[in-house]
Amino acid sequence: MLEIKNLNVWYGGIHAVKDTSISIKRGEIVTLIGANGAGKSSAIRSIAGLVKGAKGSVTYTARSGESISLLGKQPEVMVRLGISLCPEGRRILPHLSVEENLMLGAYSRSDRDGIARDIEYGYTLFPRLRERRRQKGGTLSGGEQQMLSVARALMSHPDLLMLDEPSLGLAPILVSEVFEVIKEINREGRTILLVEQNAFAALKIAHKAYVLEVGCVTLEGSGAELLENPKVKEAYLGG
Ligand SMILES: Nc1ncnc2c1ncn2[C@@H]1O[C@H](COP(=O)(O)OP(=O)(O)O)[C@@H](O)[C@H]1O
Ligand SMILES: [Mg+2]
Repeated sequence: MLEIKNLNVWYGGIHAVKDTSISIKRGEIVTLIGANGAGKSSAIRSIAGLVKGAKGSVTYTARSGESISLLGKQPEVMVRLGISLCPEGRRILPHLSVEENLMLGAYSRSDRDGIARDIEYGYTLFPRLRERRRQKGGTLSGGEQQMLSVARALMSHPDLLMLDEPSLGLAPILVSEVFEVIKEINREGRTILLVEQNAFAALKIAHKAYVLEVGCVTLEGSGAELLENPKVKEAYLGG
């Protein structure tokens, strides 16, 4: 579904992503783990067309069979192709209500009934959001904002959902809750690219995983394999 070959990202003299290749099959959860500064956000953001000057090839095969090169494409094209990014740091709008934030995720659509159904679906995934539907986004706790951000990314019905560190800053119990929902979203047929510093939580749910170190992929395997890998245990799982 997504073939990333020799992806390179530079910011001036900083070479943040170096010749990275990642392959994602339809229906999988693929995770990219790595320490702070490893280049995870740069990689996912360049796939989403948000980094100018990214080089390499990123080829996406849509459900229709259409194959298209993503680098340099506009965000509207991503939405049309069924790709949605849930960015790092919960970029919700603080002065809008929970429900208004969800509506924004459907900006590309005009089917009011469908949108209402999808908002309901978001509330089913995260019942806490339903209780707070009229509350301003900025007054939600960090975990609730993260849930809102995931629910909003689903409002465009993505085939491929990309998540940048959904566990960031969350208490362990909320990490489990958000990751259970990611698994559920995947069971419903959506492909997931998950970027995470929380290697344990990510590897537990991933079909396929890549380790990114200072911009380079240094290890790859199934989630289960990497959970058992001595280097991964030592560097990312606390020994
Ligand atoms: N907009 C930017 N301008 C300059 N350097 C950046 C920018 N974004 C990220 N970097 C640098 O690129 C490297 C990778 O960052 P990032 O992709 O955010 O890593 P991660 O998401 O794995 O923490 C870091 O050295 C970071 O300082
Ligand atoms: Mg990041």
